[in-house]
Amino acid sequence: MGEPLESCFAPDLLAGRSALVTGGATGIGKEICRVLGQHGARVAMVSRKEENLRAACDELAAEGIDARWFSADVRDAAAVAQVVAGCADAFGRLDVVVNNAAGNFPVPISGLSPNGFKAVVDIDLLGTYNVTKAAFEASLKEHGGQIVNISAPFEMKGASLQAHVAAAKAGVDSLTRTCAVEFGPYGIRVNAVAPGHISGTEGVRRFSEATGADTSDEHRANNPLGVSGHGQDIAYTVLFLCSPAARFISGQVIAVDGGGTADQLKMGLGRV
Ligand code: COA
Repeated sequence: MGEPLESCFAPDLLAGRSALVTGGATGIGKEICRVLGQHGARVAMVSRKEENLRAACDELAAEGIDARWFSADVRDAAAVAQVVAGCADAFGRLDVVVNNAAGNFPVPISGLSPNGFKAVVDIDLLGTYNVTKAAFEASLKEHGGQIVNISAPFEMKGASLQAHVAAAKAGVDSLTRTCAVEFGPYGIRVNAVAPGHISGTEGVRRFSEATGADTSDEHRANNPLGVSGHGQDIAYTVLFLCSPAARFISGQVIAVDGGGTADQLKMGLGRV
């Protein structure tokens, strides 16, 4: 795969709506901003590094997307509350929140310090909580909306070199379900998307570096479709979840992984 995919959604699907995407300046987050913007949403990206934010905003603006940026560390609840309120003010309201910001470095437990474990749990899980709570208070509770959390397809399995990430994402999945239950009465749907192997991401680059393996080939063999995904595969899933077509879907974690999660035995049988 890895090839760009033309949208099969109406270009005005999210017209008049506004979205906030954490970690939106790079990688899958930027692709989510692009796809939401291409379908009419105004997008705000929130992350730590101003130079990345400026570059991504300029790039999307050149494509005709109303993109803005706000700088904050998702671990900092006070900064997040300020930025989310500022974003809701700037747009008039917030309709969509995508919790995509994540930290990741592949390391065995033997090489992982308590602070390293905490750094990733704080970014992925506490950060998702901080942004979700701030968005609920600032805007979503008034009129409903959609929250999509970017998780990981670890489910009930372990994941070597990923103790910190797997624990954090298990928490994100749990938070997704609880938020769906508590926020449902406010007209807010909450779901998660769990990406499989997406080519060209920072995470994949770091894995290749850490293991010396060609992770592309390894992952291709490790899902039944035998291919890697593209950032658009995640972005279009987010778009679908934010669309009226998903109006009865909440509290779900959807793996977008070429069937990798379904394949417990990883036997690589090919056609049988
Ligand atoms: N192996 C082992 N420990 C590591 C590590 C690695 N490769 N990288 C960071 N750590 C540890 C640090 O040593 C530190 O622990 P210590 O205080 O006990 O030494 C702890 O993690 C925090 O690191 P620090 O760099 O101070 O934290 P930070 O808050 O600035 O950044 C991350 C943490 C996770 C955001 C940073 O490592 C990072 O940029 N990761 C890449 C982001 C990424 O890949 N995103 C894609 C997600 S799929």
